[in-house]
Amino acid sequence: MVTARHVAIIMDGNGRWATARGLPRSAGHRAGVEALRRTVRAAGDIGVEVLTVYAFSSENWSRPKSEVSDLLGLFRHFVERDLRKLHEAGVRVRMIGNRSTLAGDILTLILKAEQLTADNGKLQLNIAFNYGSRDEVARVAQQLAAEVAAGHLAVDDISEDAISSRLDTAGQPPLDLLIRTGGDRRLSNFLMWQASYAELVFTDTHWPDFGFDDLVAAVSEFSGRERRYGGLDAVKSATG
Ligand code: IPE
Ligand code: IPE
Ligand code: MG
Repeated sequence: MVTARHVAIIMDGNGRWATARGLPRSAGHRAGVEALRRTVRAAGDIGVEVLTVYAFSSENWSRPKSEVSDLLGLFRHFVERDLRKLHEAGVRVRMIGNRSTLAGDILTLILKAEQLTADNGKLQLNIAFNYGSRDEVARVAQQLAAEVAAGHLAVDDISEDAISSRLDTAGQPPLDLLIRTGGDRRLSNFLMWQASYAELVFTDTHWPDFGFDDLVAAVSEFSGRERRYGGLDAVKSATG
């Protein structure tokens, strides 16, 4: 099986998973954290290099206050409680998303996690938090404009590479496979630039039920796909 180097997951369906069991939505989010732990382990086991997970979108602030606060709490809890284990497992943690509007204590936790794990090489885990693709591209546009205004960059130098190298995923392997759980078939503002030539896999499995076998099934579907990048010939995927 060809392993995808960079896999991203829209971890969706927590609320419906809980409702189907007569539980509050918060129970679905808690079960979702367990699925995240399983999936990080699984990704490392099958040789994925980068795993990018959508934990909280820039639009998720529009949910009821209590749910937003549950989600922020779980994120804090995950970064705090799992950091040592992730570090021991050789995982390098990075947050992608807009940092400018985050509370100071969350930012401090994120920086600590990033610093502690900076030299790890087993698996890169990007946690998309307060992330939106449009926001990310707008931030890059602002940065490019500032560089031009300061005389550090010529307008003609604004190329695809100039944009890619300023995205939150700069320097990482291209996105190979984007998985969305929970049955919906949309991107919901996730990695829209990066997903240009990613293979998309949608599954009806709700995120809290996702595990090793589901990841392997998605990667195996990916390895059977023919990627042509606009040409006529299949291009060998990923690491081969
Ligand atoms: C995904 O599950 C988790 C987040 C968006 C943070 P949802 O909470 O969206 O669950 P559904 O889609 O309502 O079932
Ligand atoms: C996408 O799921 C965001 C995350 C999984 C963090 P949503 O549940 O927010 O997406 P929509 O609202 O169904 O598009
Ligand atoms: Mg949802």
